[in-house]
Formats: sequence, structure tokens, C-alpha cells
Amino acid sequence: MKILNTALGIAAYCMLSMTNLSATSMTDDEITKADYKKLIKMLTPLAGSTPAQWRVVWSGDTTTTATVSWSTAVSGKKHTLHYGTKPFGTDVAKYENHLECKKSGAYSINAKEAETTKTAFYHHVPMTGLMPNTKYYFVMESDGEFSRQLYFKTCPKAENFKLLVGGDSRSGLASRCRMNLRLAKELKEKPEIVALNHGGDYIGSGHSWRQWRQWLSHHELTTLEDGRVLPIIPTRGNHDGGPIFFEVFNLDKMTDKHSFWHTISLGEDVQIITLDTNYSAKGPQEKWLTKQLSTIRPKTTWLLTNYHRPLYPAVKSPAGQTAVFVPLFEKYNVDLALESDGHCIKRTVPIRDGKKDASGVVYIGEGGLGVGQYRPKEDLWYLKNGGYVSRGHHVMQLSFSKDALNIETILMNGKVTDTHTLKPRAK
Ligand SMILES: [Fe+2]
Repeated sequence: MKILNTALGIAAYCMLSMTNLSATSMTDDEITKADYKKLIKMLTPLAGSTPAQWRVVWSGDTTTTATVSWSTAVSGKKHTLHYGTKPFGTDVAKYENHLECKKSGAYSINAKEAETTKTAFYHHVPMTGLMPNTKYYFVMESDGEFSRQLYFKTCPKAENFKLLVGGDSRSGLASRCRMNLRLAKELKEKPEIVALNHGGDYIGSGHSWRQWRQWLSHHELTTLEDGRVLPIIPTRGNHDGGPIFFEVFNLDKMTDKHSFWHTISLGEDVQIITLDTNYSAKGPQEKWLTKQLSTIRPKTTWLLTNYHRPLYPAVKSPAGQTAVFVPLFEKYNVDLALESDGHCIKRTVPIRDGKKDASGVVYIGEGGLGVGQYRPKEDLWYLKNGGYVSRGHHVMQLSFSKDALNIETILMNGKVTDTHTLKPRAK
């Protein structure tokens, strides 16, 4: 039966891959009008022990480590990742590496949903000792059921690359899927894109397994037809409360209050410090942030911070952490701050001491990966006279080199609506 299921799954996938709905064969206009019901029929069903809902998670040194995670509908007994630098399709014995799953468990489900919905099971395989700027092919196996061959690329050590930055995919399911197609198309057209930094608010209620299940399945739309997977850098938004966020991304809580912060290194020249705006800035987070900034700033060309609630917002009030975070960002000369939550498009002027200053910090983002867009406050001083503000589903693209950091805001239809360039700070 298992062999039959696998064969049927492969046949069904091949048929679907030939449809016009494959992400990167769609025109920009078709992406903006893609039929949600048809799209979700393309996705790998969460059924039996078939590996589904795969993701590659980056949460440390992205040149040498990554975690491959997936879901199954049943708990299963044996979960293995077959991987290596050469493609062998589903001839899994030929891969260089075979790692048993390090952590498996049931996604948390609340009592109300449990009355009508079954939970599913996560499986995480952290990989270490990878080579930079290298394609890693992999096949997931759960109790004899195999995924198709997928692959991702580790981050280069010093070469130029691009990073996608976005947030707020929590509602607007059709728009979320269309934005996932947009991400896939960007990845296909620009292979130098390494990952998506998701700024949080993945779903409406972090305690809802049903909503996470949808998000996880929709994420498959970012995978290319040739099997390339877009790694994801996680951030915790105010809608991502509860344990499932940690189960999805295989993360450790920083305190007993489900908080999460971490530093990502993208090669030798780029570091991103991710903070948690659901948790007090004072105390452990401030102490940790100060140490990170003072250690990293002297050694890196591009120092970014990333968190969910804006410190210089275009829609709502400033996050409660503003009085702690902003002076530290300015003291240690952060180059760029990534924000979400406001549901609009925003790029501030460089800010220092509460005013425009060429040596200051630029704040971008506010989230457009699916959620409905708000009307921003266009008259705020930090959005005028060189800043940018608008609304619309979008993702931002950061292009890193030693000499410049280019920022582009890309709309769902592929059009670039804002560009800006930062120069590295004098050392
Ligand atoms: Fe939010």
C-alpha cells in the first residue's frame, strides 16, 4: 500500500506540475489573479506518513548549518534525511549523508480544535558542517515514504547575494499564496537570493494548529519546480504566541515566557540580530542585545536588526521597546532595521537623536506577505523628505556587496516601487 501511495503521489504531482499554475511559469499578471482553490490543490497532502510541509530553517551560521523540517499526519517510527552535494533523486542509498531525525513530536493543539481536528507531527533534522555557497540535495523519508528530491543553497562566505525580507502573512489566504508565488518567481529569476527573513505574524492565532497547518502547506508554493527550497529566517510576531511557533521552526525558548531572539550570520559581511517585541526590552533581552551589538559591530560590514513591532511606525504607535532599542541601535551604528506589523510599505530617512541625520539608522518594512494593507500616516517627519511610504502586498529585496546595500520594494505584480542604497559606514 505504501508503494502504491507513493507512486500515486508522484503521478499526481507530475500532473500538477504540468499545469499553468506552476509558480515560475506564471506571468506577473497571472500571479496577482491566481485562483486560491486551484493553488491549494497543488500542495502535497498532509496524509499518512508522506513527508509534507517541508521547510529549511536558518537560525545561526547560515554558511555551515541549516535545519530541514517536515510534517506527517501520523507520528511514524523512523524519520530520516538523506542529503549530499550530488543529486540522486529518490535513490536515497547513494546520498553521502543519512541523518536520523533529532526531534519529533505532535504539534500542540488546543482543546476546542481537538474536538474536530487531528494534530500532525513535526520532524527536525539539524545539519552542521556544511560547505558555504553549495547546493545540498535532500530527500525526506518517513516510515518508507519518500519526498521528491529537493535542494537548498547554503549562504556564500564573502560573495554578493540577495535576501528577501517580508512579514505579516497571517490573513488574506489567497494573497498569501499569491505572494508565495511572487517569492518563488523572484528566486527563480535571481538565483543569488539565499533566503526569506519573515518578520513575524505568520498566522492570526499562534495557538491555532489549523491556521499553522494552512501556513505550512501554503509555504510549499515558494518551492521551485526544480526542487529549490527558499530557507526561512524566523521572527516572532505578536500573533505568534504559544508553543507552535517553536515546534514549527525547531527553536528554543529564551525564557519561560515563550520569547525568542537570535543572531544570524550571513557570511563574513552580514549579521542580523533578531529581537522579540513580545517580550520586555529590559533585563535579559537588553543585556543580550548590548553584548551582541558591541561584539558584532566592529567585525561586520552590514549590521541589521530585525523584530516585529516598529520603533518608527507608519501606522500604529511605537513598540514598547523603543526607549531601549533605539539608543542602542544608534550607539552601535546599526545600518538597517527590519520591521513588520503595520501592514504597509515604509522606509524612513536615516534617524539619530530623534531627527534626520545622514549617520543615523534606516527603518524599513511593515509587512505585506498576504495581510490586508492599512493606510499609513504619510505626514510623519521620518517618512517625508527622502523617506518612502505606501501600501500594497510586497516583499523587500536586500542586495549585499562590500560596497553597497541596495534595497528594493517589490510588489505582488513584480513591479519595483521603491529603491534605496546604503553605503557602508567608515571603520
Ligand atoms: Fe503584528
